[in-house]
Amino acid sequence: MKAFIFIFSVSVLVTLAACSYGPESPKGFSLPEGDLVKGEKVFIKYQCLACHALKGYDDASLIKEFDTPVPLGGTSAVVTTYAQLVTSVINPSHKLAPRSHAIEEKVSKQDGSSKMRVFNDVMTVQELIDLVAFLQPKYDVKPITYTHYGQYRVM
Ligand code: HEC
Repeated sequence: MKAFIFIFSVSVLVTLAACSYGPESPKGFSLPEGDLVKGEKVFIKYQCLACHALKGYDDASLIKEFDTPVPLGGTSAVVTTYAQLVTSVINPSHKLAPRSHAIEEKVSKQDGSSKMRVFNDVMTVQELIDLVAFLQPKYDVKPITYTHYGQYRVM
């Protein structure tokens, strides 16, 4: 039994270590700090409300793409970290969490890619930074730790 607990603990530790330090991990990911006032303008400019609902925002002039818009903000099963929020904007087809078949059908095309419009060819990096600065406080996500000098000394 002791051996089992030992092996179990070691594998848990190895898994945790892999999650936080592996080459695929978001550790070290840091965008510069954005401007949320500008981010709000980006949100309106790219007509995110055509498919999304965000508390306090509506644009009746837009043609809505879904009967029930995809909600943004709050506690989301998909977005739980800053890195995931950025990912869902620049790589919407990257599946972060398993979903029910009904939701999957609504939000994905037949080939499995997301119905979300891809903005990567039109949105500037600065717009993305500001947009994420605007959206992040609407989510219940762990805030990013911006790169501060001296951070790497600890490692
Ligand atoms: C054509 C429709 C469409 C437009 C326009 C669109 N989205 Fe999306 N978006 C989606 C769909 C559908 C999903 C769910 C996608 C999925 O998970 O496959 C989604 C998911 C997201 C998510 C993750 C949702 C969560 O909280 O779980 C974020 C964040 C997001 N979109 C941000 C944006 C932003 C910001 C814009 C504007 C720049 C935008 N979207 C424009 C359709 C759209």
